[in-house]
Amino acid sequence: MKKLLIAGNWKMFKTISEGVQLVNIIKAGLHRITTCDIAICPPFTALSAINEALRDTKMELGAQDMYCETEGAFTGEISPLMLKDAGCRYVILGHSERRQLFHETNELIHRKIATALKYNLSPIVCVGETLEQREARQAFEVVKNQFDHCLGSLNADEIDRVVLAYEPVWAIGTGKTATPEQAEQMHSYLRRLLNEKYGNLVAGRIKILYGGSVKPSNSAQLMSKPNLNGALVGGASLKAESFIQIVTNACEQTFSGSSKS
Ligand code: 13P
Repeated sequence: MKKLLIAGNWKMFKTISEGVQLVNIIKAGLHRITTCDIAICPPFTALSAINEALRDTKMELGAQDMYCETEGAFTGEISPLMLKDAGCRYVILGHSERRQLFHETNELIHRKIATALKYNLSPIVCVGETLEQREARQAFEVVKNQFDHCLGSLNADEIDRVVLAYEPVWAIGTGKTATPEQAEQMHSYLRRLLNEKYGNLVAGRIKILYGGSVKPSNSAQLMSKPNLNGALVGGASLKAESFIQIVTNACEQTFSGSSKS
């Protein structure tokens, strides 16, 4: 059975000391958890300190973005080598906030994914439609386009190290969540795209997370769906109690959810 992955995307919140304090409470609340994978993605400035705080745990560290070059004159950017050096295993790429606010294109995201893989970072690649696109019944087309252009040229070996995240833009930070059925519909569509390209075995191994207003009150229902393999949690990952509860719900799901392979 695939372990669920719960990743907390802290976005642009938490100073170093606030972050360490939060992680210490999360650690205490989750020290017995072994049945699901956990990743914490703080801002760049807190990566090293959080890595240190996570040292005696199974929780992993992730970054929220990186540039697609190893080093060079790219003022303000962070490279995969630097993320590895800071202790990262994951890096979130193609988040809708990067796409919308910083005009990241599928082409740039693809280059970032390829570079992350080259340096042995697992990219958590975000896809998802806006409200207008959903209302115009273009959600599947938009997500397919992002999938094709961001991941298109990866081979089976590479895709195996990718985590996908379906994050409908209309559900991010809005309090509106996709229903478990809506989420499952898109996740099974993504699984089908993976299947067509890489076959059953590889497609079945890839984790597809859901993100968009995941909270303790809706996470169990979402995670019960067969093609949801975890969550990318924004706002609720900033509060220890809610993040602990979401992870605890996911672990119970892993115990009881025999339908997931
Ligand atoms: P919220 O959980 O705050 O809606 O954010 C979701 C998200 O963007 C995670 O990457």
